[in-house]
Amino acid sequence: MSKIILQADNICKAYIMGRSPLQVLRGASLSIHEGEFAAIMGSSGSGKSTLMHIIGALDLPDRGSVIFDRRDVFAQSRRERERLRNTQVGFIFQFYHLLPELNVFENILLPHMIGCSILGWPAAKKELKASASEAMEAVGLKDRARHRPNELSGGERQRAAIARAIVTKPRLLLADEPTGNLDRKTGLGILAVLDELHKQGQTIVMVTHDQAVADRADRILNLVEGRVQTD
Ligand SMILES: Nc1ncnc2c1ncn2[C@@H]1O[C@H](COP(=O)(O)OP(=O)(O)O)[C@@H](O)[C@H]1O
Ligand SMILES: [Mg+2]
Repeated sequence: MSKIILQADNICKAYIMGRSPLQVLRGASLSIHEGEFAAIMGSSGSGKSTLMHIIGALDLPDRGSVIFDRRDVFAQSRRERERLRNTQVGFIFQFYHLLPELNVFENILLPHMIGCSILGWPAAKKELKASASEAMEAVGLKDRARHRPNELSGGERQRAAIARAIVTKPRLLLADEPTGNLDRKTGLGILAVLDELHKQGQTIVMVTHDQAVADRADRILNLVEGRVQTD
């Protein structure tokens, strides 16, 4: 088996709603191997997005640890954690989260620009633009570079979001219900893009409530009552 790239142990997370806390994660643990395509399945409201945000260092757990490539993510400073997230993790969301005022090319370049200092930008620009073109080609969206999100179909928007997620060549790609807002046929096209990235070696963790979607992964982890059950 390949090496473990991410290990989450005993993750607990509650949301405070009114007087009683809503305990969503109750000791969730999982390991992800380099190069694998894993699906996290669970019913709506089971805490899949919460877990994905925590393993991607977008949110903090109340308890538990995440080790990413031997680094203890939540023992690091906020700055180090943000750097890890921006350079090593790519996110794909159900509703794309593209910026409407930017065109596809600019949306894809944005994460690169965040990781780059103002002084470093002129020198890095050429290489970064080449990576953005490469990412667009990988998702089959080369001829849509100058279009704004509202000029694209749902499937094309999700392709743009995938291109944005992979442009930094992240070690880990996290997808939260990536086909959840799409019709079946368009959704299959998105899964084919993820399959292709996986074949090229990309490590992917995909969250879904849909068994047919989860079946596309190498391994399914079930999130039940705040814990991950493995089969
Ligand atoms: N920021 C939040 N504040 C309060 N409750 C939340 C928040 N985010 C999620 N929840 C609640 O936590 C539970 C799990 O949510 P979520 O992780 O989004 O589940 P899933 O992605 O599996 O549908 C749900 O009951 C949801 O309403
Ligand atoms: Mg969710």
